[in-house]
Amino acid sequence: MSLTLHLAHIAPSTADTPLLVVVLPSAPVMDDALAALDISLGGALARTLTRRDFRGGRDETLLLVGAEQGVQRALLVGRGSAPLTRTTARRAAAIGARQAMKLGTGAMHLYLPDATDDAIEGLAIGAAAGSWEYSDLRTPPAEADRRLPLTTATVLAPDTDTARAAFLAGVALGEGQAIAKRLGQMPANYCVPETFVEVGSEIAARHGMRLTVWGRDDLAREKMGAFLAVAQGTPEEPRLVILEHHGGPADQQPVVLVGKGLCFDTGGISIKPAAEMEWMKFDMSGAGGVMGAMETIGRMKLPINVVGIIGSTTNMPSGTAFKPGDVIRASNGKTIEVVNTDAEGRMVLADLLVLAKRYNPAVVIDAATLTGAIVIGLGHSAVGVFGADRSVVDEVLAAGECAGEPGWPMPMWDDYKELIKSDVADVRQTGGRAGGSITAALFLKEFVDDYPWVHLDVAGTAYSQSDLGWIPKGPTGTPVGTFVEFVRARAR
Ligand code: BES
Ligand code: MN
Ligand code: ZN
Repeated sequence: MSLTLHLAHIAPSTADTPLLVVVLPSAPVMDDALAALDISLGGALARTLTRRDFRGGRDETLLLVGAEQGVQRALLVGRGSAPLTRTTARRAAAIGARQAMKLGTGAMHLYLPDATDDAIEGLAIGAAAGSWEYSDLRTPPAEADRRLPLTTATVLAPDTDTARAAFLAGVALGEGQAIAKRLGQMPANYCVPETFVEVGSEIAARHGMRLTVWGRDDLAREKMGAFLAVAQGTPEEPRLVILEHHGGPADQQPVVLVGKGLCFDTGGISIKPAAEMEWMKFDMSGAGGVMGAMETIGRMKLPINVVGIIGSTTNMPSGTAFKPGDVIRASNGKTIEVVNTDAEGRMVLADLLVLAKRYNPAVVIDAATLTGAIVIGLGHSAVGVFGADRSVVDEVLAAGECAGEPGWPMPMWDDYKELIKSDVADVRQTGGRAGGSITAALFLKEFVDDYPWVHLDVAGTAYSQSDLGWIPKGPTGTPVGTFVEFVRARAR
């Protein structure tokens, strides 16, 4: 990430900045700090509020031109009438940062009156989110047309240890989310399974984590027939990457995070329609989320053991691809009747969930862009949360809520299991259109041992096909926040 974040304990009116972002609630009123700022803006702030040109509604913005020196511009950003939380502060800061990118100010200061520690954390996350872009593959415009990218953001906050800690946590989350978003946005001819090895080794080196990398031969040795069935359609080397963060006592059972890493999903022999297939470059978002979370956990030095496992390949139709009707044996010995090669994510996850058992997990959480059905059921605003153990599901829901990545619980009753009974194998790979996300989760459950487990279907939430205002069209960073808040809460 090219943005550097700073923390400063100065009055907003004394900032020497090309852009001061001022985050205000609905029906804003002047306090002493704003009154001082108003003087440096020649009275423009007070006049604007009196005229009600700016009312502080959510996402509302107004740019005030400032002086030659000091506060050179002020951008008012509304946060609406909802309570001040990390999520509302994050959103406003991201809008400010996006505006700074458009203006080309290069730097900005962020001020939120009476900011709580949570709000400070949110401002740091939001600044990172709003300045994020993936421009590697674009030819830069001519020098004269170039705008400065946002390279520094300074958060104004009280001089306390808790404010500093909150700020650093926000920076750590921003960095983790940037890793996930970058992997998501990279096209599938750039983001390949080997890319997860590269990113994983960088994270491991930065934070002293243990790294394990497996290829096709290792998967064969481990009898991971389900993962290999998907990978057999591509000549590209599949990769299973494991990162181990040893932050807790050696005998502490780890939290294991598992991610689906399909660099591209054509559907395979059960090929997808051409329209909108390009979005399937995001089919690695679960794995991207695990990578991003491991980066944040490493930066935060959380005193807990965490293992991240991702499985990465590409689902292709080819002469060697697996086919509907094939019966495949997974690494726990169970046989799977393949029905639709487009249900590839659950095949990869099956072997990863079996592997997770080896770590003697306290809990396993997997994340995957698993089903189109979850998009139909929950749309783009809620992560589908599945699990048999209600208390762990609640823990994950609380983490998602706190992270601003809300989830919603889905049923997993045995009744649905009828739908994945096979005539020839131990389990049928899919259960048809009805309850498609639920039968997918029940399929995964066949490969879960006795450990507590929660499955996150992020097909509707890991990327957005439209500009959401606070973040552009493309990757959202979900589920990095949910993973991190879960682990953070467990570490407390
Ligand atoms: N990666 C897709 C799910 C998906 C769909 C993600 C839309 C994001 C947006 C997954 O591999 C898939 O193709 N699932 C099938 C399962 C079906 C064949 C049982 C689906 O949802 O149609
Ligand atoms: Mn698929
Ligand atoms: Zn897929």
